[in-house]
Amino acid sequence: DASDRLSGKKLIVTAGGTREALDPVRYLTNRSSGKMGYAIAAAAQGAGAEVTLISANSALPVPNHVRLIRVESANELLAAVKKAFPVADGLIMAAAVADYRPAVVANQKIKKTAANQTMTLELVRNPDILQTISTSKRPGQVVVGFAAETNDLIANAAKKIKAKKLDLIVANDVANKQIGFNADQNQVTFLFADGQQIKSPLESKAAIAERLIQLITDHFLN
Ligand code: PMT
Repeated sequence: DASDRLSGKKLIVTAGGTREALDPVRYLTNRSSGKMGYAIAAAAQGAGAEVTLISANSALPVPNHVRLIRVESANELLAAVKKAFPVADGLIMAAAVADYRPAVVANQKIKKTAANQTMTLELVRNPDILQTISTSKRPGQVVVGFAAETNDLIANAAKKIKAKKLDLIVANDVANKQIGFNADQNQVTFLFADGQQIKSPLESKAAIAERLIQLITDHFLN
């Protein structure tokens, strides 16, 4: 029965885009809506998994019977994933995580002045959540990432699956507005660590999520 394929399994899904504060009223972020990650959480729950959805700044309704943790920044997302991962069977990182954050967060609103016609922001690297988590992965745990690329999709996804020691990566061409950030549809290539590639049709994010959950079930969690 499709509704209990993943019963007894605990999955963590991340969604949305992190916000990196600059001062009390401003932040840097990206165009992620959370649609892809929320669809994955719903599909995993529908397959019987116990789902923890770690959501970065999405305004979407929360799928039924899913445990929700809200976070804002990449550092908060890392802390939440680190806490949940030891008892989980798998992690699916669909969140769009800022690679850099402002080096200094001002305590007060930054003012414009007549003397400062330009402004330079210094950014520092954020931790890589997948790289950090992969080092603590136990046998039997599955770690899945996404690769959001505007060019050289498969080559860049292949680099990320190795660098982040992933079991599976979902390559997403975000240069195409029909299938990228905030779109209702997607078209992806699933890339496995052994090089196997499966290309999906163009379909709803819900259908992509079902396909992903089926692949994870068949390959890693059966
Ligand atoms: O939310 P939507 O509007 O529906 O859009 C969906 C999406 C385009 C955001 C989604 O399909 C997607 O591609 N998510 C990954 C976005 C991303 O951050 O990609 P990346 O190629 O920069 O990162 C690669 C992987 O490493 C991702 O799984 C990311 O979550 C993870 N990462 C990135 C940076 C970082 N510091 N730590 C990470 O773990």
